[in-house]
Amino acid sequence: MAFSVVTVYHSGYGHTAVVAEAVNSGVSEVSGVDAVLIDAGELNSPDAAGFSVLDNADAIIFGAPTYMGSASAVFKTFMESSSSRWMEQKWANKIAGGFTNSGAMNGDKQNTLVEFMTFSMQHGMVWVGLGQMPGNNHSGGSESDPNRLGATIGLMTQANVDEGGDTAPPQSDRETAVAYGKRIAEATIRWGS
Ligand SMILES: Cc1cc2nc3c(=O)[nH]c(=O)nc-3n(C[C@H](O)[C@H](O)[C@H](O)COP(=O)(O)O)c2cc1C
Repeated sequence: MAFSVVTVYHSGYGHTAVVAEAVNSGVSEVSGVDAVLIDAGELNSPDAAGFSVLDNADAIIFGAPTYMGSASAVFKTFMESSSSRWMEQKWANKIAGGFTNSGAMNGDKQNTLVEFMTFSMQHGMVWVGLGQMPGNNHSGGSESDPNRLGATIGLMTQANVDEGGDTAPPQSDRETAVAYGKRIAEATIRWGS
């Protein structure tokens, strides 16, 4: 039976949705793994039907824009709606990962990733970091480097605030996202076999 990796995300203006799709496409590159995308807006109460997809997943990847230095309110509503799962430790030992997108290069994205990691630890999950060396950190580097923002604990992407999701975040961030999705899928197979 195939493993299931679910990416649950929120996106107010379309940028984080592009990242979620890139992460999901990286997951789908790994054979033996089903890649599923879910909008966190549909998971705004513990009784929401979509929660069963997460309950049955082998891995869950959490993604939200950074708004005011932490995960967006829609995503936080999903997080709080998951507390009944926490009570039963229903997601314990599933693989977890996370990503966030914001307008500024830094933009306090680290705080959002730490929030996701803490959330995953509360659920007893097994966190998988980005696993990519930092790009754009030497005189020969550029904005086109993979992991140009130099994240480690999860995936960070950046979208210029005057651009739409058709061009922002840039290609390098999208490629970094695909690689992270692939890494999570591979980790799911290794953890589960
Ligand atoms: C309410 C609000 C708060 C924001 N706070 C931050 C922030 O703390 N740091 C930052 O760099 N950008 C911030 N931004 C910009 C967004 O992170 C950025 O536009 C992002 O691409 C939005 O992602 P989305 O299109 O998926 O909603 C904020 C935007 C909004 C609407």
